[in-house]
Amino acid sequence: MSVQAGSRDDDDLQGDREFAFSSSDYAFLAKLLKEKTGIDLGPSKQNMVYARLAKRLRKLHLPSFRAYCDFIAGPDGIDELGATLNALTTNLTKFFRENHHFEHLGDQALTEIRARAATRGKRLRIWSAGCSSGEEPYSIAITLKRSMPDIAQWDARILATDIDTEMVRRGGEGIYNPESLEGMAPDLKAKYFETSGPGIPPGKVRVREDVRQLIAFKHLNLMDAWPMKGPFDAIFCRNVVIYFDKDTQRVLFDRYANLLVPGGFLYIGHSENLFGITERFKLLGRNIHRKIA
Ligand SMILES: C[S@@+](CC[C@H](N)C(=O)[O-])C[C@H]1O[C@@H](n2cnc3c(N)ncnc32)[C@H](O)[C@@H]1O
Repeated sequence: MSVQAGSRDDDDLQGDREFAFSSSDYAFLAKLLKEKTGIDLGPSKQNMVYARLAKRLRKLHLPSFRAYCDFIAGPDGIDELGATLNALTTNLTKFFRENHHFEHLGDQALTEIRARAATRGKRLRIWSAGCSSGEEPYSIAITLKRSMPDIAQWDARILATDIDTEMVRRGGEGIYNPESLEGMAPDLKAKYFETSGPGIPPGKVRVREDVRQLIAFKHLNLMDAWPMKGPFDAIFCRNVVIYFDKDTQRVLFDRYANLLVPGGFLYIGHSENLFGITERFKLLGRNIHRKIA
């Protein structure tokens, strides 16, 4: 690891906090996060970092953030590093978030995607990159099921990846609090979720097996080499790059373009854009892009 824990005599950031947390501890953690994930916290997320990591210090019985930084920088810290990254990523998501993207997928994109896939052995691939706890890829899968009643006759697969191992695990389970389905049409809830059965904890709902089968959940850091070759018909990478700097975004969107079929679709989040990042996509509107052939 090329980030170094800071010196011991720098200023302490907090007043009455449980653990000492200095500006060099923050600088160390922010640099580590940027190097490992692309996420650039900037200079002022100290409170967030403290709140998210304090429970790790408690669990490990460490007396200060300096001790925590030394631990993850040291030879025994490799496992904890994963927990650090899990704690520092922001996983906010919901079913059918920015629903116009799923409307576009179901009403327009899939017509094209099917026509193209029909000439390629009915192979249809969609990637949810930065899938968090699974609500996004399940929304894609439900859209596919609704728009393609003959889906069983297609080689249709969704890849769902995230850097956060806990999110990937939860996504694979497909178990949610009923409140997370609030606002969803009752017929969708009834058709694609079950409330009882083996493996479903009381008071929870689970995505039905036929929907779960469409998705492969995998741990993947977008900054690393990607094992999959594609091509993908569509990529959802929404609300992931908000904290990436422009250079990191340039590389990432270029790699997405390389993996998409010509004319393939890229969906990005409402506060994200590709201006000054890449010219390999044409904006169709509402943060939906088409790869230029
Ligand atoms: C705010 S959530 C967005 C979830 C979903 N795409 C949506 O829009 O609802 C951002 C996700 O991106 C993931 N993420 C951040 N940096 C990543 C990286 N370098 N590689 C893979 N996933 C990353 C986070 O772990 C988090 O789950």
